[in-house]
Amino acid sequence: MAKNILISRSLPDEALALVPRDCRVDIHDGPDALSKSDLIARLRDRQGLVCQITDTIDDEVLRAAPGLEVVANVAVGYNNIDVAAARRRGVVVTNTPDVLTETTADFAWALLMAAARRVVEGDRYARSGQWTRWQWNLLWGLDIHGKTLGVLGFGRIGRAVARRASGFRMRVLYHDAVHADQAVERALGATFTDRETLLRESDFVTIHTPLLPETRHLIDEAALRAMKRSAILVNAARGPIVDEAALARALGEGWIAGAGLDVFEEEPKIHPGLIPLQNVVLAPHIASASFDTRLAMATLAVRNCVAVLEGKPPITPVP
Ligand SMILES: NC(=O)c1ccc[n+]([C@@H]2O[C@H](COP(=O)([O-])OP(=O)(O)OC[C@H]3O[C@@H](n4cnc5c(N)ncnc54)[C@H](O)[C@@H]3O)[C@@H](O)[C@H]2O)c1
Repeated sequence: MAKNILISRSLPDEALALVPRDCRVDIHDGPDALSKSDLIARLRDRQGLVCQITDTIDDEVLRAAPGLEVVANVAVGYNNIDVAAARRRGVVVTNTPDVLTETTADFAWALLMAAARRVVEGDRYARSGQWTRWQWNLLWGLDIHGKTLGVLGFGRIGRAVARRASGFRMRVLYHDAVHADQAVERALGATFTDRETLLRESDFVTIHTPLLPETRHLIDEAALRAMKRSAILVNAARGPIVDEAALARALGEGWIAGAGLDVFEEEPKIHPGLIPLQNVVLAPHIASASFDTRLAMATLAVRNCVAVLEGKPPITPVP
């Protein structure tokens, strides 16, 4: 029987070409995410959904699509999907792990380095016309090499970020809900610590946990006050892991030195307290946005969707 698939955002042609010819595909290609009511209306009578993190797939949406067999998220994080509700309804949920690990780790480092060495401030200054002579005391920043990197969430991306630290001869601390194997710790030169020690001793704290009830505001006022005044916080995981109002105060009042943020609590809104600050680098949720990786994510999501619709096991089901 021919299957119906909803694709909630336009995807590259190479990914769409993987949909079998006998499937009927409905693609939403507007610039904004589908509203909940449109999503519900267009999902009716569909067996497959390929969706993005901007689509909230909750029990109400799932209830409205009784024939749905698979929700294929084009992301590794799946906090936009009620996975328990999907399981209850027999709907398979898949994500796109691994294919974005290195690209996201690259970008966490880009934020770290940009914040430490004031790259964005330098760019603004160089363009502004104010640069009229070489200045000895212009835009001093923080060294990265030889410092301590603290990785919160030592999974695929956290480890890829840690691996890059060896080139900077850094000490690497990590904290995770799970202790890594000794062989992994040895290979990455990383030492497990409790969260408090990591916050207290790290010059750079980079967040790579999923967004879960227990990681919401993992970095709150107390955590920010526990960090070094010279420390930099990087968040390329999910916005609500950091209390953004507390971070704006921390940066404005000098509890920490700087931050690099790819994600925000209420995207695309950014806390107004962050906007005027020079010591924070802001990016519009683009950590996985390289040509190769976005194509790999789209391709994997479509392959997951098609596999389930063909009665095969999904390639990367969420755990
Ligand atoms: N900004 C972006 O564009 C972007 C891109 C990719 C991934 N992400 C985010 O990065 C997250 C991590 O991706 P990944 O592939 O490394 O996932 P992963 O599952 O491999 O790693 C997550 C790690 O966090 C740990 N963890 C879970 N709860 C914890 C807690 N309470 N305290 C400490 N550690 C905890 C897990 O044990 C695991 O080791 C994703 O969930 C996603 O939200 C963001």
